[in-house]
Amino acid sequence: MAIRPVLRMGDPRLLRVSSPVAQFDTPELHALIADMQDTMRALNGAGLAAPQIGVALRVVIFGIDHNPRYPDAEAVPFTVLVNPLLTPLDAVTEDGWEGCLSVPGMRGLVPRLKRLEYSGCDQHGARVHRRVDDFHARVVQHECDHLDGILYPLRIRDLRHFGFTAELFPGQDLQEE
Ligand code: NI
Repeated sequence: MAIRPVLRMGDPRLLRVSSPVAQFDTPELHALIADMQDTMRALNGAGLAAPQIGVALRVVIFGIDHNPRYPDAEAVPFTVLVNPLLTPLDAVTEDGWEGCLSVPGMRGLVPRLKRLEYSGCDQHGARVHRRVDDFHARVVQHECDHLDGILYPLRIRDLRHFGFTAELFPGQDLQEE
């Protein structure tokens, strides 16, 4: 399909609340997801939300292969999630470093729920339901925030823990979400 330009922080379209998808298994939805996949792969991202390519619909994709350069980052299966619903399992949060394709070259320390349940549908309308923790839980929270117009810098508690990746993590080539 096509690699689409990713909107960057400052573009007002990233601040919109997106609408639910009403119909599944349509050519339009399949084309959107194909473009999102192409774009995420081209930029080596860990996830992408439809608003990041200017489409105000509640669609996210995410997934990372295990990368031997980052043995601590667990693999997350490639997932298409439409109309997601996140349900906390408890109030335990954990700080972790995040990046975003809409905030290129930067990292921030963001508190997220450590574990949660999520549900929704795939592009065919089949139910998706998982209980996840750690990095998988972080990625899904980051991506779903985009659907409500929230970029990760808005969640940083101490802005001293926000900066350029090259300065924060010299010599590392980190993936963006
Ligand atoms: Ni992002």
